[in-house]
Amino acid sequence: MKKIIIANWKMQLSLKESLVLARGYVKKLNLQKNEIVVCPDYAALAFLAPIFKNTNIALGAQDCAFSAKGAYTGEVSPLNIQSLGAKYVILGHSERREYLKEDSVLINQKIKVALENKLVPVFCIGERLAEKRAGKTKEYLLQELRQGLKGLKIKTVNDLIIAYEPVWAISTNKGAKPISCSEADEIQKFIKEQAQKILQKKVRVLYGGSVKAENAADFLAQAHIDGLLVGGASLQVKDFSIITN
Ligand code: PGA
Repeated sequence: MKKIIIANWKMQLSLKESLVLARGYVKKLNLQKNEIVVCPDYAALAFLAPIFKNTNIALGAQDCAFSAKGAYTGEVSPLNIQSLGAKYVILGHSERREYLKEDSVLINQKIKVALENKLVPVFCIGERLAEKRAGKTKEYLLQELRQGLKGLKIKTVNDLIIAYEPVWAISTNKGAKPISCSEADEIQKFIKEQAQKILQKKVRVLYGGSVKAENAADFLAQAHIDGLLVGGASLQVKDFSIITN
């Protein structure tokens, strides 16, 4: 199975910069080897769709509403995201959990609505420094999995992706450094087994957190890492082309 590499551009780019970067991706990335997904901000989604048309780059959103339609001012419907050509949606990212106070009940609702509207949720989980220091990483991850995946039904391995991102390893957090490849692999194995127990289906599990041009190949070589979720290093064509190669 191809590895899947997702670029999370966060809110780092102007619309113009997003278009330039998207064109750079089309020119420079090896589009055959891995499955590539770009998640720009909402404003750029519609503009990027024609640039990626007839390429192997898929589009994703960084979040979606907990409902497909209704009086929810400021929210963006998964139905509209899907109709713009996006196939994926990142849900439960640690930045949304922290800054927007998203909790597991809301994230679970969003995953359900995303699935109903034919988007593939990229469900993010990850322990913070406090849980890591207390030796409670697996306990915490299991709780996030149980709450986020509660009551979900998926039909195939392609319907849902889990992204393991230790919060302390995300490059924008102070003192961040990536987890070691062997530790990531061991935790990812645990996540896969637990998710399979809950869903009664296999799922792919990606790693995210300070993935760079220098360490991507080592992560991808691990048995239980099905791909990567890349923030900072996806903002440079050169770095991202090394990562996706
Ligand atoms: P990073 O971000 O690659 O810059 O650490 C990853 C993420 O937050 O998804």
